[in-house]
Amino acid sequence: MTAEIRAWDTDVMPDGTGLPPGSGTAAQGAEIYRRKCAACHGKTGTEGPFDRLAGREPRQAFPFGRDPRLVKTVGNYWPYATTLYDYLNRAMPLTAPGSLKPDEIYALVAFLLWRNEIVADTAVMDAQTLPRVFMPARDRFVLDNRRGGAEVR
Ligand code: HEC
Repeated sequence: MTAEIRAWDTDVMPDGTGLPPGSGTAAQGAEIYRRKCAACHGKTGTEGPFDRLAGREPRQAFPFGRDPRLVKTVGNYWPYATTLYDYLNRAMPLTAPGSLKPDEIYALVAFLLWRNEIVADTAVMDAQTLPRVFMPARDRFVLDNRRGGAEVR
């Protein structure tokens, strides 16, 4: 029973709690991305056919609420690099969610952050470095600090 719960208890929190051992760089991620992701997200993360992953525009302001045509990406909308890890771990690739190993996920996160001009192509992503990455949209969101009661922030 404990083992079953542990298998599902993979949450990675915004502050990095839950990140497993492992590491990866953009160069390593580029190769994995080409094999496992490019068919759906495009060669450089911008071509589709599915969600666009790279792109910082519009760099100024945050007009997403006013203009529904604006495309949300990792670079212009995602608030935490840590929860990008969490999302890839549980949801991607769409056809085989849960199949990626920690080293592969760190490398893919590094690749996507590099594609979005957030980290250098040599940056090593791991449980220590990932929580320190400051995402462009970081200050556009507030942490949900409700504890299950009626209080709403
Ligand atoms: C079979 C097609 C397919 C493959 C392969 C695939 N994805 Fe996705 N991906 C999608 C779809 C469709 C969505 C949108 C899911 C949704 O909105 O619920 C998505 C969403 C995403 C998002 C969230 C985008 C956002 O801004 O909300 C990220 C990040 C992502 N994918 C990364 C990856 C990575 C990295 C890989 C390779 C390991 C991958 N995907 C492989 C189809 C795919």
